[in-house]
Amino acid sequence: RSFKGTFFHAPVCGGMEVLRDTLIRCDTEGRILEVLRPHAPTYAAALAEDRAAARLETLPKGTYALPGFCDLHIHAPQWPQLGKALDVPLEVWLQTHTFPLEARYTDLSFARRAYEGLVDDLLSNGTTTALYFATQHQDATRLLADICLTKGQRALIGKVAMDNPEQCPDFYVESTDAALRGTQAFIDHVRSLNSDRIKPVVTPRFIASCTDAALEGLGDIARRCGCHVQTHCSESDWEHNYVLDRHGREDTDSLDRFGLLTRHTVLAHANFISDANMQTIHERGAGVAHCPLSNYYFSNAVFPLKRALEKGVRVGLGTDISGGPSSSIYDNMRWAVASSRALHDGVDARLHWENRGIRDSQIDWRTAFYLATKGGGEALDLPVGSFEPGRYFDAQLIDPQAASGTIRLMDDLDSDADVLQKIVYTASKANIARVWVAAECVVGEAR
Ligand code: GUN
Ligand code: FE
Repeated sequence: RSFKGTFFHAPVCGGMEVLRDTLIRCDTEGRILEVLRPHAPTYAAALAEDRAAARLETLPKGTYALPGFCDLHIHAPQWPQLGKALDVPLEVWLQTHTFPLEARYTDLSFARRAYEGLVDDLLSNGTTTALYFATQHQDATRLLADICLTKGQRALIGKVAMDNPEQCPDFYVESTDAALRGTQAFIDHVRSLNSDRIKPVVTPRFIASCTDAALEGLGDIARRCGCHVQTHCSESDWEHNYVLDRHGREDTDSLDRFGLLTRHTVLAHANFISDANMQTIHERGAGVAHCPLSNYYFSNAVFPLKRALEKGVRVGLGTDISGGPSSSIYDNMRWAVASSRALHDGVDARLHWENRGIRDSQIDWRTAFYLATKGGGEALDLPVGSFEPGRYFDAQLIDPQAASGTIRLMDDLDSDADVLQKIVYTASKANIARVWVAAECVVGEAR
């Protein structure tokens, strides 16, 4: 397939590029072969050839294609409680709301209803790649993989491991053996599907929910299978202190000792990491899912994003459904920008605004856009997130004129950068006209 239109992307952090009237040609797998600008010598011939072969899709005038988003942290089973129970601390929220909800996923018809709704919601919000925590359950977790396959979303999925009876309720706990065998069985199952869209993930929920034996065994599985790892890291005061008490070290060092901090690891939150922790994360090549909206609710905290980026840590964005009350990466881009300006040290009205908060901690919308797209792809080592040869054509089409949309453009006033900035700050679901994964239309109608 090939696509002609105007594309926005961020090939580097903090940068944006506009590709006007550009032709993007893909191979049969949906990977980008060529990006031809109008002045390219082969542009006219390629355009004519693709048109003649009926494989050209011309994007409507006045629309803009952006890379699809990568959401690096989602609890799939928590979608039914999105926007509920945000006023209690993490440890209370888990025991009174979240574990009872997740325990329901032994019921496969409930699981189907929730997971189909979730995947539709995410795709129509422009999220083409999702890194999911599922539940403890083998069958419901396989069902999530099937639903992602059917609906066409690129997904990395983990059967959640939680075998510590001291932190997990008796209605939602498994044996160490079940945690390890179940993780291995799910990896084998996903690999037997033979799809490059779905990948298995070793998923110790967090240190508190796992015994040392499980953490050790999961580290072994991750090493042997070479697959991705995801877990929560230094998210809240209670959780961070629990690990200090139990292991005498911080989450980062503890995970590292169990072999769970690898090039394929994504740590959710990482709010309370020290400079030394940051260095370890960088050395191991692990990535961070920055979940700004969730961090406000659970931790009154802001992840030290700028410091991480300066250090070269790979960072992307996560919604943390349902710790954050929105399934939209647009909302999380906005919160990433706003929270980076937040007042870490209290408000002192006598200070000039530039001197409040933590110096040099601010990011702008360009950085947020990179994190939501190519940053997420890089953190996962997946070739997605920008319109460059070799990457999959995972994209969303923005129609600023959509009837119930929320973008207001002024043709004679807005530069290209203004248009993208307005999209980042004001787009809503109604503005997302089409979504593609690997050049295949998964939302809206291909023309
Ligand atoms: N820590 C352990 N489990 C969870 C969860 O489901 N959500 C969040 N935000 N933190 C967690
Ligand atoms: Fe989470």
